[in-house]
Amino acid sequence: MAKNHQTLLKNIHIGQKALFTFNTFLKKTNYKQYFILCDQNTLKHCLPLLLANCPTLKKADIFEIESGESSKSLEVATQIWQCLIDQNAGKDTLIINLGGGVVCDLGAFCASVYKRGIDFVNVPTSLLAMADASVGSKTALDLNGIKNIIGTFYDAKAVFIDPIFLFTLPNREIKNGLAEMVKMALIGNKALWQTLNNANTSLDEKIIQQAVQIKSKIVLKDPFDKGIRQALNYGHSIGHAIEALYSDNKFPILHGEAVVMGMIIENHIAHQKKLLNKTSLLEVNNYLIQNFKPKPIALSDIEKCIAYLQHDKKNKGNKLKFSLLNKIGQCKIQVEVNASQIKKALLYYTKEVK
Ligand SMILES: NC(=O)c1ccc[n+]([C@@H]2O[C@H](COP(=O)([O-])OP(=O)(O)OC[C@H]3O[C@@H](n4cnc5c(N)ncnc54)[C@H](O)[C@@H]3O)[C@@H](O)[C@H]2O)c1
Repeated sequence: MAKNHQTLLKNIHIGQKALFTFNTFLKKTNYKQYFILCDQNTLKHCLPLLLANCPTLKKADIFEIESGESSKSLEVATQIWQCLIDQNAGKDTLIINLGGGVVCDLGAFCASVYKRGIDFVNVPTSLLAMADASVGSKTALDLNGIKNIIGTFYDAKAVFIDPIFLFTLPNREIKNGLAEMVKMALIGNKALWQTLNNANTSLDEKIIQQAVQIKSKIVLKDPFDKGIRQALNYGHSIGHAIEALYSDNKFPILHGEAVVMGMIIENHIAHQKKLLNKTSLLEVNNYLIQNFKPKPIALSDIEKCIAYLQHDKKNKGNKLKFSLLNKIGQCKIQVEVNASQIKKALLYYTKEVK
């Protein structure tokens, strides 16, 4: 685990020179084998850019997975390990995760346990992975429909974040990542919130950098998720329930979209609990509703949502504990919440979002 914020940030390279820096990293290090993990989309849109900037990687083995959350599975991980065995991969192999959060989580997990740990780097290509998933040493797989239930804490050797990859990212996926950046701002940086809240702001590397800074600061204070890191779960307790609720749909909801809905609902709970004042509640929720156009929730889904929450792995005992805003830029963790407060907030949501 990195020793301080500067050390942590030193290994994270953000900006238009990130791929150039990655090439220098490859020249300076002594890996004998390279193994690039990508999905169908990043193979097509991102791999050519990576290879053009990092010629050393032209001899790399490429492993392609299907795009989407379903690849974060033990079955796909097993295929990756088998491929590593077939290629005689060892401690002198570098895994390069070229993709969104799915590729980063999966590749990092595979690296963390193969031969008790081999090196990997993240080259995130989705906004969500750039601002969030590629940073912070959590690796993960899903099992039997339970998200991120299998995982390890394992540091990337380095992270190379080049916004050039965003040119091919669909707009819906940009919003998906923006949702996590807004979350980051709301829990940790009021100035970033004000920037994002400004209609004239365009997404650039400075904004990504600020989101990464907020996350890495929190991670550094609590690398193993025992305390303050739970602030990153703001919007996620309800968000995960919504994600699960709509996962069987023909058009499943994206993680960031569910988190937006989660933030709106959880803000109302925070207001009920006298943590978030009315002005801030309106400021944040109006922004979220106008900019993200969240999906309505049917009245008939409210009870299902509450039932799901009872199974949320983050809750201890029978008590529901959420991370809630107590003001813009600040989050309070482990706030006890009851079913009636959740119901009230869900009802509020159904009235606000039609
Ligand atoms: N480890 C962590 O700390 C952490 C934090 C947040 C989220 N996550 C995980 O991240 C995952 C979600 O990440 P995501 O939203 O990036 O999903 P994703 O990896 O599925 O990527 C979203 C879509 O965008 C495509 N894509 C990615 N980059 C592209 C590009 N440059 N051009 C065109 N298409 C591109 C992908 O193929 C995919 O279809 C979830 O599994 C979540 O659990 C992990």
